[in-house]
Amino acid sequence: MKAAVLRENQKPLEIEDISIDKPGPGEVLLRTAASGLCHSDLTVIEGGLPFPPPCVLGHEPAGVVEQVGEGVSDFTPGDRVIGCLSTWCGVCKFCTQGRPYLCPSQFEGRPEGSAARLSDASGAPLGQFANLASFAEQMLCPERSLVKIRDDMPLDRACLIGCGVTTGLGAALNTVDIPAGASVVIVGLGGVGLAALQGARITGAGRIVAVDTQSWKFEMARQFGASDCVDASEGDAVAAVHEITGGGADFVFECIGLVPTVQQSVAMTGRGGTTVLVGVVPIPQMASIMPADLTLQEKKITGSFMGSNRFRFDMPKYVDFYLDGRLKLDEMISSRIGLAEVNDGFDRMRKGEVARQVIVFQ
Ligand code: APR
Ligand code: ZN
Ligand code: ZN
Repeated sequence: MKAAVLRENQKPLEIEDISIDKPGPGEVLLRTAASGLCHSDLTVIEGGLPFPPPCVLGHEPAGVVEQVGEGVSDFTPGDRVIGCLSTWCGVCKFCTQGRPYLCPSQFEGRPEGSAARLSDASGAPLGQFANLASFAEQMLCPERSLVKIRDDMPLDRACLIGCGVTTGLGAALNTVDIPAGASVVIVGLGGVGLAALQGARITGAGRIVAVDTQSWKFEMARQFGASDCVDASEGDAVAAVHEITGGGADFVFECIGLVPTVQQSVAMTGRGGTTVLVGVVPIPQMASIMPADLTLQEKKITGSFMGSNRFRFDMPKYVDFYLDGRLKLDEMISSRIGLAEVNDGFDRMRKGEVARQVIVFQ
């Protein structure tokens, strides 16, 4: 089967014919239907998130079950599923606490010494990013990284829920508790930020301010529920947000992952407000903040990982939100591309020309 392989950081992915193993105990083999391109894949390509090549990236998939391994009872061939990197074990401290998205098992693949799930034409093992590796025609995943969805949900839109939508929507719906009428700022209107914006709207936030450097995104932001838009490429975005919100917002979601925008997000947060860091700043960059700003104004900063999801519970609900019209996904898709165009897709992402791009498999 065909896959896009990362051979070396900072280099284009290579389309290769690779092999995939049979499903072992607790594993499911899928035919990939669609995969979104997420900024975190690009961060791995560029070396800002450690995952050693050679490997297959892609972690925002939807697909159809082809075969199940021993002991798998939740899926049968033909099921339509979304894949999520938040694989959970069910018994660790985080899982039993109700925070399975922090489960350390998501960073483990097959047990040591077992055959690789993926290997190249020479038989050498290929890393499988996030237990998914969706830049490939087939995927072999732990059953606990999958959720079955309604048959009437189109898979080229369902895939977006696999990472970006869950990350953004969940940041607003799960990580923090936004009271009706609270002021919210979204910094960065990529797939993640546009989903956080929709989450803020769904919870009943008041003023919702959208901030980006690409003013063409503002029409979409307004359509998704933004009341105000700030062009960060023109003048002081922090001052503009203070002006609109009367001294800073109740909640600010940083959805880019840059040091300057993290600092701006803290500065945009008002007295008693909360900054939510959703974007992943490349490791090991540091950002400085003024602690007295937090103490004297009792501001909070929290990280939000994968939308603090319990994805088997959240994702079917997000599918319902889409099908009842509350969650806009069609508008988020800038283009549908083939696997062979994946590198062009990342170039467009680097230039900030797109909201979300989806690889559709035949
Ligand atoms: N100020 C405001 N907006 C900016 C700035 C800036 N200085 N720099 C970039 N942006 C905007 C871009 O124009 C774009 O609209 O931020 C947005 C980023 O969107 P994407 O690149 O599509 O990123 P996305 O996939 O949404 O992911 C955002 O979340 O999950 C994490 O790792 C992911 O860190 C990444 C972040
Ligand atoms: Zn992602
Ligand atoms: Zn666990």
